[in-house]
Amino acid sequence: MSKLIINGPTRLVGEVDISGAKNAAVGIIPATLLINGKCKIDNVPDISDINMFLDILKELGSKITHLDKHCLIIDNTKIHTHIASDELSRQFRASYYLLGSLLGRFGKAQVSLPGGCNLGARPIDQHEKCFRKLGAKTNTLGGKIYASVDKLKGANIYLDIVSVGATINGILAATLAEGVTIIENAAKEPHIVDVANFLNTMGANIKGAGTDIIKITGVKSLKSDGEYSIVPDQIEAGTFMMAAAASRGDITLRNCTPKHLECISNKLIDMGVNVEEGDDWVRVWCDGNINSVNVKTLPYPGFPTDMQPQTAVALSTATGVSTLIESIWDSRFQYTEELIKMGANITVHDKTAIITGVPKLTASVIYSHDLRAGAAMIIAGCVAEGKTEILDIHYIDRGYEKIEEKFKKLGADITRLN
Ligand code: EPU
Repeated sequence: MSKLIINGPTRLVGEVDISGAKNAAVGIIPATLLINGKCKIDNVPDISDINMFLDILKELGSKITHLDKHCLIIDNTKIHTHIASDELSRQFRASYYLLGSLLGRFGKAQVSLPGGCNLGARPIDQHEKCFRKLGAKTNTLGGKIYASVDKLKGANIYLDIVSVGATINGILAATLAEGVTIIENAAKEPHIVDVANFLNTMGANIKGAGTDIIKITGVKSLKSDGEYSIVPDQIEAGTFMMAAAASRGDITLRNCTPKHLECISNKLIDMGVNVEEGDDWVRVWCDGNINSVNVKTLPYPGFPTDMQPQTAVALSTATGVSTLIESIWDSRFQYTEELIKMGANITVHDKTAIITGVPKLTASVIYSHDLRAGAAMIIAGCVAEGKTEILDIHYIDRGYEKIEEKFKKLGADITRLN
């Protein structure tokens, strides 16, 4: 079992390059299955969720050539099955996108029920609603989801809940459907826009991504030999912004999209942290105390749930009492037990954490409870006095590329032990 050892405290200072967005890449890689040909994708993050996805595609018949670590040519001319690897697809959440893309390609799909981070109940009824509205039958049996249809036909779909996954799956299934599909109450996250932009670059006709009404006019086929570069990762960028605040540091993010970070920048400004931005960079710095604030997680452009644990670390040493309300997931506060071990003063009531700032955190042996909680534990380890050990770091590797190298470049004393 690998673990991370961090000796703190460290004021994190320097520049960090932001990788391609995990949650866009996990939509775009399966979206390539709609192309009966080749495409080139750049800025693909080198993370374990993507590597698992590429392995699934290879088993389906894709030929994948790495031009370098982040640039791939995916040739889907020889995809021969609609059945996704049971073992691989049950290991991560985003494998559910194979349902929309295989249904679009073959009119049938078989995928194991997705796993991933434990954030409480994670139903996919809205994904199934999209497929059913487009004419497909879906059925769950023995841990697998089956979907099939003679011909997908455009439809009006009103999502009962704003769902990132259902919006992307609806887009994937509707891209090659006959006629027009309208998705209302759609999610608006930057990764949804990126999946739509990728498909449009390949010849799809999708309008309105980034608003709550998306119109997809089905096309007969997508073109071969298109090229696309994945958008920078909003949450990786936000993680380093919060690391600058928590460590009272000075970090400049390179290769990011400041517009996508406004929901985080504005909260940092409320905390008394300095934020300056240019075309593709953001600098976050903080010299003294930070203020307590109230935060409620919401769908984009609200404050992202995936930034909730990192924000809790920064607020643990803020002046005064902060509240943090989780409104997306049922269960996302397990990590607070780890921060309490480090001396934080946090009480959790249902979906609200109340954080009373303390002067400092102290090192401990702590666990990554999920991907974002794991990133938060790294920030906590950098801020705390003494030697912190972080266990269960495989969660972090699912979604952050070379995280310890990036923190090391900012001055952290961090080592991975295998
Ligand atoms: N929901 C339903 N039915 C559905 C789908 C969702 O009730 O059919 C509910 C969920 O239970 C949740 C809410 O709707 O309460 C929102 O879920 P959503 O579908 O938006 O989440 P997701 O697509 O499963 C993606 C990200 C998550 C991120 C959420 C919210 C990917 C692969 N995952 O999940 O990212 O927290 O959107 O922004 O894109 C992460 O990256 O660490 C991560 C967990």
